[in-house]
Amino acid sequence: MSKTKIAPSLLAADFGNLQRDVEMVNNSTADWHHIDVMDGVFVPNISYGMPVVKSIAQHATKPLDVHLMIVDPDRYIETFAKLGATNLTVHYEACTHLHRTLQAIKSAGMKAGVAMNPHTNVSLLEDVINDIDLVCLMSVNPGFGGQSFIENTYTKIKTLKELITRKGSNTLIEIDGGVTSKNAKTLADAGADILVAGSFVFKSENPTETIKELKEITA
Ligand code: DX5
Ligand code: ZN
Repeated sequence: MSKTKIAPSLLAADFGNLQRDVEMVNNSTADWHHIDVMDGVFVPNISYGMPVVKSIAQHATKPLDVHLMIVDPDRYIETFAKLGATNLTVHYEACTHLHRTLQAIKSAGMKAGVAMNPHTNVSLLEDVINDIDLVCLMSVNPGFGGQSFIENTYTKIKTLKELITRKGSNTLIEIDGGVTSKNAKTLADAGADILVAGSFVFKSENPTETIKELKEITA
């Protein structure tokens, strides 16, 4: 039985055929739609904002896993709840009052996620791990798709898994960036619950088959 969830990142979709690509994910064995929102301040790139997320939400039939790479994400919690986000993930590095932000996300009816840049030590979550539904470990520097996987991520998964177990938390571990069929199994075996994959899925010849392949590898 495959416990590992696959979340294709629509950042790598063809935006001229966004409905088609969202429907491909609907009709595939993928578990979630991963939606990357970038503001050009927290990360050097700007991806897309609310009107595009609204269009995705109108066509998507699977949970919306929204990853905010923006400064001061508290400003938009209600907005993303209204747009239909299932999970709302904010960056550790972008939140001065992380505990408050997590409570606000949950009060708005969403699962609360925390993303961590490659340089951010997972031990910083020691006092807040029981309030987090999902930790997204960035396995590339956020901002762009198509980058290579940072190998130190394996050590981070192990340390995070130990923290989660020690604290008796149900927090899920998501890996985002550079996921391919080459590292998917090792990541799942190391303790990853969700794998985000952008270019590996959408730039492949048959994205539906590639999703199936990732599901089978991690089964
Ligand atoms: C990067 C984004 C990722 C990105 C992953 O900042 O958070 O979700 O789409 O893309 P790939 O799988 O191509 O590394
Ligand atoms: Zn992402």
